[in-house]
Amino acid sequence: MGTYLITGATGGIGGAVADLLYDAGHALILVGRSAERLAETAARLTAGSGPTTAQDASAGPEPTTGPLTVNGSDPVTAAQAVSEAGGRVRTTALDLSEPLRLEASLADVDVPPLDGLVHSAGAVELGTVAESQPDAWIEQLLVNAAAPAELTRLLLPALRAARGHVVFVNSGAGLRANPGWGAYAASKHALKALADSLRAEEPEIRVTSVYPGRTASGMQRKVRAQEGGEYDPAAYISPRTVARVIVNALMTPRDATVTDVSLRG
Ligand SMILES: NC(=O)c1ccc[n+]([C@@H]2O[C@H](COP(=O)([O-])OP(=O)(O)OC[C@H]3O[C@@H](n4cnc5c(N)ncnc54)[C@H](OP(=O)(O)O)[C@@H]3O)[C@@H](O)[C@H]2O)c1
Repeated sequence: MGTYLITGATGGIGGAVADLLYDAGHALILVGRSAERLAETAARLTAGSGPTTAQDASAGPEPTTGPLTVNGSDPVTAAQAVSEAGGRVRTTALDLSEPLRLEASLADVDVPPLDGLVHSAGAVELGTVAESQPDAWIEQLLVNAAAPAELTRLLLPALRAARGHVVFVNSGAGLRANPGWGAYAASKHALKALADSLRAEEPEIRVTSVYPGRTASGMQRKVRAQEGGEYDPAAYISPRTVARVIVNALMTPRDATVTDVSLRG
């Protein structure tokens, strides 16, 4: 069994990835902004209730939360060590709009070798170039590009130790920039460049970019509100479908790397 760190674990796609990896027996480190929402997600996993969105989270047994205390040099595998430390799920609250603080925030977290790092956190704020204010540009560039870069940099020793796999949840907007999507598309184009550079620089680490189309989640609900349209979850890709593609990429045998996958609804 492996150990996987997931950002955006309280969201639709990240939560569905956590469900699938937990059900397969892996150890998880869940990252989100809110300790309370992370605790709800951890409780849902350990209760085995299986819904795939944060909105579906239900009460369950007390989660095992708090900073990791596992020594990476311990001879037992990372997954065993996390389990022996009190459970297969740990949570760490981090605000990815502040990448300058990530190093200090992670300083006390003794991260075990990581088999995978799934970057699923994301922020969106629609607006034309004419109307988008600097704070919208800054937030999206920080959360969607600078923070994944910094988190990856900080976790590279743990990833190298396990010859791990980094998955970036990108977007169709990372390949095409449409009207009203400039800042988000710029941040996701930057995320693609980050993934491609990392893949070329770290031959022992596999790197995958996943480009979903519109997916039923809190983010899509916000996008539809900003577009002035209705939000019908049934009209969009299920987060669980995106998660299955991500987990398939993670579980691909080492003789191949899934580099880029686009999903259209
Ligand atoms: N939904 C779509 O249509 C769609 C399409 C293509 C690509 N994507 C991409 O898919 C990824 C997952 O999105 P989703 O659809 O699952 O949306 P979601 O349900 O809204 O989840 C977004 C996640 O990002 C986290 N997040 C946001 N800002 C953060 C911050 N400053 N610090 C830490 N965490 C933060 C949220 O945590 P909190 O609990 O703290 O809010 C939440 O867990 C994103 O990268 C998004 O760009 C989505």
